[in-house]
Amino acid sequence: MVPLSLAKSLASSPRSAEQCSADEATALFRADVLYGLSQPQKAVPPKYFYDEAGSRLFDLICRLPDYYPTRCELEILKARAAEIGALAGPGASLVEFGSGSSIKVRLLLDAMAAPAAYVPIDISGPHMRAAVTRLAEAYPGVAMVPVEADFTQSVRLPPLEDGRRVGFFPGSTIGNFTPEAATAFLAHVGDVLGAGSALVVGFDLAKDRAVLEAAYDDRQGITAAFNLNLLARINREVGADFEPSAFRHRAFLNGAESRIEMHLESVRQQEVSIGRHHFAFARGETIHTENSYKFSADAFLAMVRHAGWRQHAVWTDPKGWFAVAALERDGEGR
Ligand code: AVJ
Repeated sequence: MVPLSLAKSLASSPRSAEQCSADEATALFRADVLYGLSQPQKAVPPKYFYDEAGSRLFDLICRLPDYYPTRCELEILKARAAEIGALAGPGASLVEFGSGSSIKVRLLLDAMAAPAAYVPIDISGPHMRAAVTRLAEAYPGVAMVPVEADFTQSVRLPPLEDGRRVGFFPGSTIGNFTPEAATAFLAHVGDVLGAGSALVVGFDLAKDRAVLEAAYDDRQGITAAFNLNLLARINREVGADFEPSAFRHRAFLNGAESRIEMHLESVRQQEVSIGRHHFAFARGETIHTENSYKFSADAFLAMVRHAGWRQHAVWTDPKGWFAVAALERDGEGR
């Protein structure tokens, strides 16, 4: 498989990695942080939010009144579960990219006829394995095949049964990529799943600024804690000396790019060190930590077509805030 540099969506050092050891993962994290903090606009890729504490904070975000995407998507998946089950067909294998706590997948497994396997792929190994243990009890007939990997890099699937391969990429995680990187990622997923496969992907729709900004700057301060946790993680794993209280959470709509940006803003002039590397921060200077793109259905479907997928259906919630696309790939199934 050709290595892709999909993590380019937000400053990542140029190299590829997959299914690597803990030491290698830490070395890559360090390289990404050093590279990102050396850029004119300092940045750290959002995949590093998800250590144990970050994964837990993200689960809390999903339950916040202000954070609508999870609820809207669950509403769509519930309403369309039977159609997704029919699209998958009997004995299919479900491959989830960025599985997290594996809650939404239950709706699909319930609606599928005799699913053969569930293959969660996640960068946060312990969090994923705990989720899979819970899931295995509820679905004794489904082979659980977790893959601890960074899906923004090239991924290989374990051997799977003959049924259709159905990819699942919920939550609008696709919105973390720039449109170019998202298109490359969708094409890569097509290569990984193979001819005749299907893909169910959630994406967030463009909407009112106030609704969007409240979802990324909630009143409880959970998103702020999620963003700031990145600094604590960098301190612990890379040996930096960030003072988290000297940074504040920022989230705003960049209308020209149709994306929410999250930043960590330095509240004063300061210097941060990682070993022999020193990084100066002016007061008000930021580290860009996440893009979360908001699409029109048309713009999203144009990317999907470029990536070699055919539209089966696009569904939205009653408010029209979130969308789920069901896609298919031509060719002989396996
Ligand atoms: C997991 C990438 C879909 O962009 O909405 C939530 C992450 N960041 N609140 C999103 C996130 C701040 C989330 N995704």
